[in-house]
Amino acid sequence: MFTRLFLTFFTIFGAVAAGSLVGLPAYAADEIETKAQTCAACHGDAGMPTDPKTTPIIWGQQQSYLVKQLHDYRSGDRDHPIMSQLAKDLPRADDRKISAYFAAKPWPAQPKPAAAAALPKGIAQCQPCHQQNFEGGPPAPRLAGLSYEYLVEAMRSFAKEERTNNGDMPKFMQMLTDSERDAIARYLAAL
Ligand code: HEC
Ligand code: HEC
Repeated sequence: MFTRLFLTFFTIFGAVAAGSLVGLPAYAADEIETKAQTCAACHGDAGMPTDPKTTPIIWGQQQSYLVKQLHDYRSGDRDHPIMSQLAKDLPRADDRKISAYFAAKPWPAQPKPAAAAALPKGIAQCQPCHQQNFEGGPPAPRLAGLSYEYLVEAMRSFAKEERTNNGDMPKFMQMLTDSERDAIARYLAAL
């Protein structure tokens, strides 16, 4: 009888305690952190996107670049069915805060494909903007460690002027052949 009562008490008390614990993060968390949880569905809750082939890593990406992309998706300068809508739903005033939130996260560690031995042709011209180690700097994004598929598609869409939210990138991409872009994307993905 006593044990049973105790167990009942414990069960109720335990459930309440657990419930309040579960409720706590949403309650106490910063508003931006709550909004960032929406992004985690695709960009990953530990920085690695659920489908890295189509979805870029945003953890540890350059803040100024993230701000600009949210702006561009909203304005239509960069177009993507999902991201354009999400950016329109996000208040403009949050762009900087949510970008700072993701930029401050560590770039996710990932198993590396074997690194290419030699620098692929044409890659030296990327370094003044994307930096020596390809980890980016204002205003150019980090490229090192994005997936081969995402990189090759981003480079192709600049070359074909489907992505036109930057004046320089289409010209640089048009100077390269398909196979040169392919080799550069493979090299960058392995960094
Ligand atoms: C339903 C999936 C999905 C969700 C949710 C999502 N994204 Fe994205 N995001 C994508 C995809 C796919 C791309 C690549 C789009 C393209 O090719 O232009 C992308 C691209 C981006 C980029 C451009 C990065 C780059 O390297 O060019 C930024 C910045 C971004 N997302 C931020 C966010 C933020 C902030 C949120 C939450 C408010 C969010 N995303 C939620 C799928 C998603
Ligand atoms: C003059 C400076 C400059 C040079 C040189 C340059 N880039 Fe860029 N690149 C940029 C900037 C700035 C952006 C961001 C454009 C935007 O606002 O979307 C960018 C964007 C990109 C992206 C898109 C990244 C993403 O997350 O979507 C890829 C891929 C890329 N560059 C590859 C290259 C490669 C490869 C080279 C060399 C062959 C190169 N770039 C040379 C400035 C440069």
